[in-house]
Amino acid sequence: MRKPIIAGNWKMNTRLDEAVALVKAMLPELNRLDTVERVLCPPFISLTATKELIKGSSVKLGAQNMYFKDKGAYTGEISPPMLSDLCDFVILGHSERRQLFGETDDMVNSKVKAAYEFGLKPILCVGESLADNETNRTEAIVASQIRAALSGVAATDQLVVAYEPIWAIGTGKAATGKQASATISLIRSTIAQLWGESPSQAIRILYGGSVTGDNIAEFISEPEIDGALVGGASLKADDFASIVRQTASIKSAS
Ligand code: PGA
Repeated sequence: MRKPIIAGNWKMNTRLDEAVALVKAMLPELNRLDTVERVLCPPFISLTATKELIKGSSVKLGAQNMYFKDKGAYTGEISPPMLSDLCDFVILGHSERRQLFGETDDMVNSKVKAAYEFGLKPILCVGESLADNETNRTEAIVASQIRAALSGVAATDQLVVAYEPIWAIGTGKAATGKQASATISLIRSTIAQLWGESPSQAIRILYGGSVTGDNIAEFISEPEIDGALVGGASLKADDFASIVRQTASIKSAS
């Protein structure tokens, strides 16, 4: 049985005071819902304050990105050892990193390896563009992103994958539960080819892209979908808590 995960990706939103207020607003409800792994991924500058606020709770902390070198002359970057005593998780290969900041599959692969080296659990993002989707290239693109990101990586159950079709991110146009489930099955079978059937069954694979309190049930009702990576709706305490609450109740009933 895979423990469901709901992760909130705040992206480049919230100043420090706003981040603190948001954590305080959602924490009491999140604390009650511990059958779901709950992960908050605020901006770097709010990681320390968030860590303080969640101390003693089972809510986990994640970063949104990192560089793969452990130190050196890389102005503006954050290294794995800087994050390793702060965070449990790190989002890697988000499509915004790939599209806006030129992250390649090779860089994502180096980041995945660096995360394991420093005890961080990657939330590895993959997903196809609208053009790829419309030309039936979803499976080929997503499988190749998985193979590249996990090249030379030994089997582990400490991996989380997020399937995030680019056309669904921030657009209000989510995939359907069935579409997401089909691609997630493909991701799991790609991992099975790399690592074997049993390790692939232990990996949690999430859906991301315009998830809200109004549509989470459709995704989480699919047995193949182990949770969600939530952007916009994770900035609203009530909506995020509702997503976690529905996940707890649907997954515990299944
Ligand atoms: P969204 O973002 O929920 O705002 O679509 C999801 C993500 O990019 O992780």
